[in-house]
Amino acid sequence: MPGIFITGAVKNTGYAIAEKFASRGYDVAISSRTQEPLEKAVGMLRSKYRVKVKGYVLDLSDLSDIKSVFEQIERDFGGLDVFVPNAANLGVNLDMMHVTEQDYTNVMDVNLKGTFFCCQQAAQIMRKKGKGSIVIISSVHAKSCIWGRSLYTASKGALNALMRSMAIELAPYGIRTNCIIAGAIKTDRWDNLTPEQIEEKRKNWPVGLESTGEDIANGVYYLGTDLSKTVSGTELTIDSGVLISLLPYNGGRH
Ligand SMILES: NC(=O)c1ccc[n+]([C@@H]2O[C@H](COP(=O)([O-])OP(=O)(O)OC[C@H]3O[C@@H](n4cnc5c(N)ncnc54)[C@H](OP(=O)(O)O)[C@@H]3O)[C@@H](O)[C@H]2O)c1
Repeated sequence: MPGIFITGAVKNTGYAIAEKFASRGYDVAISSRTQEPLEKAVGMLRSKYRVKVKGYVLDLSDLSDIKSVFEQIERDFGGLDVFVPNAANLGVNLDMMHVTEQDYTNVMDVNLKGTFFCCQQAAQIMRKKGKGSIVIISSVHAKSCIWGRSLYTASKGALNALMRSMAIELAPYGIRTNCIIAGAIKTDRWDNLTPEQIEEKRKNWPVGLESTGEDIANGVYYLGTDLSKTVSGTELTIDSGVLISLLPYNGGRH
C-alpha cells in the first residue's frame, strides 16, 4: 500500500487530508504533540477506513524527535510516498514592534526549521524508492499581509521558497515538491461563531464561501499522487479568491 505522513493531523485540515488519502487506500501516519488526541484520531481513521493508521507524538521544534519519528515511520510502513508538512504555529497577534526572541523561536522553529528538517528526513526515505511527493501547506500570508502576523508571514513565505528549491534539489531522486496556498479554511476555531459572524466573514471573499478541510485535501491529493506526475515547484491556491482582491471585497457594491 502507498503511505502518507501528515504532521499536526488530529483535527482540522490535517485530519481531512488523512481522511482523503485513507479513503483512497493509503496507509496513513499522523502526528500530534499530544498522545490523547492522537489516539482518538488514529482510532477514528482505523474504524472508518480499512487501512493501516499509526500515530506519532512529535514536537516539530525538536530535531532529534523529528529524526526518531521518521525512523519509526520507515520501519512501520517500509517507506513513504507522500509527506505533508501541515502543522504550524499560527503566530497570531504578534505585533512586530513587540516580538521577542522567544516569539521568533516559537514560530520559526516549528514552521520553518521543523518543516525543513522533516522534508529532509522524508526525502531520505523517498530517495530509496526513487519516487515521492512533498506537499507543503502554505498560506495566503506567504503573499499578502495583515497586522500582527509578521513571523507567520515570514515563515510561510520562506516555505514557498524552500518548496521551489527542493523541487530543483530533490528532482534527481524522483521527488516532486509543491505547495498549497491555503486561505479561508473552516476549522474548529469557527465553532463559536454565530451564523451572522460567518456571513460577515464570507462577504470578504469573492467566492463567498470558505474552504472545508476536504477542499484543501482534494488539492493535496492532486499534488501528492500521480495525477500531477509532471508537476513540481508550483503553488496551488485554494483560498476562495482572497488573494486576488486588492481591497476588502465589496461584492460589487459601490
Ligand atoms: N485555517 C486557515 O484558514 C488557514 C489558512 C491558511 C493556511 N492554513 C494552514 O493550514 C495548516 C493547518 O491549519 P489549520 O487551520 O487546519 O490549523 P490547526 O489545526 O490549528 O493547526 C494544525 C496543527 O498544527 C499543530 N500545531 C499548532 N501549533 C503548534 C506549535 N506551536 N508547535 C507544533 N505544532 C503546532 C497542532 O497539532 P497538535 O496540537 O496536535 O500538535 C494543530 O492541530 C497550517 O499549516 C496553516 O498555516 C490555515
